[in-house]
Amino acid sequence: MSVNAPLLSGENLTRHYDIAGKRFGEKLSVKALQGVSFRLDKGETLAVVGESGCGKSTLARLITMIEPPTEGSFRIGDTVVDKKTGRPDKDLRAAVQIVFQDPYSSLNPRQKIGTILAEPLLINRPDISREDREKKARDMLALVGLRPEHYDRYPHMFSGGQRQRIAVARALMMNPKVLVLDEPVSALDLSVQAQILNLLVDLQDEFGLAYLFISHDLSVVKHMADRVMVMYLGRPVEYGERDEIFGNPRHPYTKALLSATPIADPERPKQRLKLEGELPSPINPPAGCAFHPRCPIAISRCAADRPDLAPVAGRDVACWRADEA
Ligand SMILES: Nc1ncnc2c1ncn2[C@@H]1O[C@H](COP(=O)(O)OP(=O)(O)OP(=O)(O)O)[C@@H](O)[C@H]1O
Ligand SMILES: [Mg+2]
Repeated sequence: MSVNAPLLSGENLTRHYDIAGKRFGEKLSVKALQGVSFRLDKGETLAVVGESGCGKSTLARLITMIEPPTEGSFRIGDTVVDKKTGRPDKDLRAAVQIVFQDPYSSLNPRQKIGTILAEPLLINRPDISREDREKKARDMLALVGLRPEHYDRYPHMFSGGQRQRIAVARALMMNPKVLVLDEPVSALDLSVQAQILNLLVDLQDEFGLAYLFISHDLSVVKHMADRVMVMYLGRPVEYGERDEIFGNPRHPYTKALLSATPIADPERPKQRLKLEGELPSPINPPAGCAFHPRCPIAISRCAADRPDLAPVAGRDVACWRADEA
């Protein structure tokens, strides 16, 4: 692996879901993800933001190998995964772990915490002794701020925040390089959110973890991200450094998202831009730029040609008018 190769990178990642029915004689499919490319380096956080249904969790399912891409590929270290890759080997799957939004449904209610934590090792690393497995599980409990006696308790005995600590501990059992965090604090009370976010920052510093951080909450993203990818209807529309994107957004969709969120920042110019209309269907996305029916600055070209991401003002933007904005 070359020195500058990213830890994880995606190339044209695409995922379509076939659904029942036909339109103009063609089988229908949901275009959940359409040609997403990105890189993620050791120790950094890339945030993925966008409205519900824009493909954030789909991206998460691809890179955690829960399901394969329809097109495109991603690379972890020297290994490339695409639609032809069969079941990837255990080391590869261990490298990318996920924490889901809902701490109430993600832990098996019939298993003790110790069992929940030890299970990934039991399945994937039969060479590790029972003693070592249990020791590692206890170490992980301490690492995420829980107590040794919690080892023998059941999930229902914990609060939402504690359960999310357990989910993080379980994700860390396999010594991953990348954690995919899919709305990890959205289900928690505000005060608890801050505790979990701080824990994640500490763990990242300690282990050099890379985070793919999915969130619709821009104030959380601003706190956590090094870089940001803004998605609309399965495609990235703006991608770059956090400060560039929050300080000087260039895509009209990013501007609309930011102006809808109260983020205390005296340096950010006051731009009010209201998002009109409904999110179009990913089964039949608009021609040209998918955002054009809702875009306040669209021109006729936007309805005909789809702009690709291109460098503008120190980040990448997919907008014909990004230079003027
Ligand atoms: N198995 C599936 N079959 C058909 N459509 C699907 C399937 N999984 C996801 N979709 C559709 O793909 C699109 C993207 O879904 P995804 O869950 O990735 O969105 P999201 O950005 O994570 O949204 P949210 O913020 O609500 O979590 C949505 O339109 C969704 O309905
Ligand atoms: Mg989701």
